[in-house]
Amino acid sequence: MQYHPDKPIIAGNWKMNGLRGSKIEIEKLVNFLGNNNQNSNVIIFPPYTLISDFVNIAVSSDLFIGSQDCHQVNRGAYTGSISPEMIKDLGCNFVILGHSEVRNTKDESSILISKKAEATHKNNLTSIICVGEDAKSRMQGKQLDYVSNQLLKSIPTSANINNTVIAYEPIWAIGTGKSAHLEDIEIMHKHIISFLNDSKIFDNNPPNVIYGGSVNADNSRDILSIDNVNGALVGGASLDSDEFIKIIQSI
Ligand code: PGA
Repeated sequence: MQYHPDKPIIAGNWKMNGLRGSKIEIEKLVNFLGNNNQNSNVIIFPPYTLISDFVNIAVSSDLFIGSQDCHQVNRGAYTGSISPEMIKDLGCNFVILGHSEVRNTKDESSILISKKAEATHKNNLTSIICVGEDAKSRMQGKQLDYVSNQLLKSIPTSANINNTVIAYEPIWAIGTGKSAHLEDIEIMHKHIISFLNDSKIFDNNPPNVIYGGSVNADNSRDILSIDNVNGALVGGASLDSDEFIKIIQSI
């Protein structure tokens, strides 16, 4: 199965949640996708420990499985790390990079994210590169510059519409139950698209730009109908497949 950049994306980021018993959620999801024509790319990002099990369930279905992060080189003496080559070998197609929870807890720079993205591209993986301002920058009205700076440094020259997706995730909206205002999402996505259009990398053919931050079954229809919002990166609400299916249906 191949990623279709001309279709929107509904992605579920499970973060550090899920045990082997959670397979039942993926079975439900695969079953749903098998019985319904898909107008979107649906991806689940489980913790590393469940990738293999989930790939086995999703094989020959319409569900993609991805990894929540990866190292910037393929192999070597990097205790505790997982490489893009390993992720590809497991049967994944996607990797999330630069999630604010990783940027902040591991003090990860945009330059490092760009190196990781380049490594994923070399391994035929599509990277979802996350950007998004913190509460202080938004209060100071500096959110557009903040995100431009992240985009400038986080996207490698190997990026194209097939191997790259941008996720706008304002940090203050993640896991808070308070998504950004629709108007603010619209302004930021317009800004991101024009930044990507201006950048030589995408040559006026920008990749999908998706929104994340407290998306749930109640607000997804409104968020997904905003101009230039090509999908959603869903955290908490993706853990329950019934709710996640409602989000898929709202596109
Ligand atoms: P949330 O997380 O939906 O729980 O806010 C989104 C994310 O971090 O990707």
